[in-house]
Amino acid sequence: MKINDFKLERYFANHEFTAKYLLSSSDCDGWEMNDVLQLASPRELKLWEELQLGYTESEGSSMLRESILQFYQQQSIEQVVVSSPGELNFSLMNVLLSRGDHVVCIAPAYQSLYEVVRSLGCSLSFWKPDPETWEFDTNDLEQLVRVNTKLIIINFPHNPTGGYLTLNQLSEIVSVARKHGAYLFSDEMYRKLMISDREELPPVCDLYEKGISLWGLSKSFGLAGLRTGWLVSQDKDLLKKVIAFKDYLSICSSGPSEVLSIIALNHADAFILPNMEKIRKNVSLFGEFTAEHDIISSFIPPKAGSTAFVKLNIENTSLEFSDRLVEQTGIMTVPAEMFDTEGKYIRIGFGRRNFPEVMEVFSQYLKTGVVRTKK
Ligand SMILES: Cc1ncc(COP(=O)(O)O)c(C=O)c1O
Repeated sequence: MKINDFKLERYFANHEFTAKYLLSSSDCDGWEMNDVLQLASPRELKLWEELQLGYTESEGSSMLRESILQFYQQQSIEQVVVSSPGELNFSLMNVLLSRGDHVVCIAPAYQSLYEVVRSLGCSLSFWKPDPETWEFDTNDLEQLVRVNTKLIIINFPHNPTGGYLTLNQLSEIVSVARKHGAYLFSDEMYRKLMISDREELPPVCDLYEKGISLWGLSKSFGLAGLRTGWLVSQDKDLLKKVIAFKDYLSICSSGPSEVLSIIALNHADAFILPNMEKIRKNVSLFGEFTAEHDIISSFIPPKAGSTAFVKLNIENTSLEFSDRLVEQTGIMTVPAEMFDTEGKYIRIGFGRRNFPEVMEVFSQYLKTGVVRTKK
């Protein structure tokens, strides 16, 4: 199997641990391990203290899957599989798709959502939003679906635009998938990060018998280091295939991660609510920054999630802009090129507590006049 490099991850690999400031991260600051352990009930603490460092159940421990189910209408732990989010995406596509299948995926998107599909010899169509609003039109989706469409891939809250759907729109997507007998894979990695007054959507696995929902602890919880994600679906046979495929990859999760994940899930608000608060404040600060600096030619605040995709008023490409910015100020931003997107955009991530400080450094840099804006 041949697969193209994951551009965004390679760009992060080059800068994430050397750049002084991260302005494009999609995760929230990582909590400390003690923050998690302090919340533990006596029963949960016992799990931690008596933990044996052997292999774990390949589908995820029963207790972890029970903790996950509190966020779904589904009742059976056989409807849950645990692994890292990327591995779940990779495994699911591999068991679901065959060469020649057609897949519709939203774009711009986190590259693995479509690159794994491409590597399997499937044909792809991209469902794109209106760049003036980042709204996705379900009529456009309907136009893209064909007789051999096996899978539709969506991601709301959307990385990178911060776009979101109404319940009506989500129901329309489910109707399109059902009409064509297609599976619907819904990457819900930013679930519960509600930034605007939009109503929170139910997970797709609760709405559709061929729906598969992905969520995890990296983004909404700020616990990316645990590498815990999960799929939930009504289709238990499909999940069994994912578990079998995983035997060729990680086989099972790490025991310490599983226990910390159980504690975090059982005290979810303690993580998610402060993250949402931080994102909201940073979004508002960025609004003020936009009003003061004409380099930002369009900022559509996120409706949900932790990121926005902002348009720049610059002469250079966004890649050149980002490369220079990190070199000259230590501020890392992700340019549009990492999302295979044309246009001069960078992703802004709002989940970090040093955001105000980074804005200050960015502002000082722009005042030096080194960045040439278009007149
Ligand atoms: C939409 C989306 N899906 C999946 C992932 C993968 O999550 P993780 O990095 O925890 O494996 C990411 C990470 O950025 C993402 O943005």
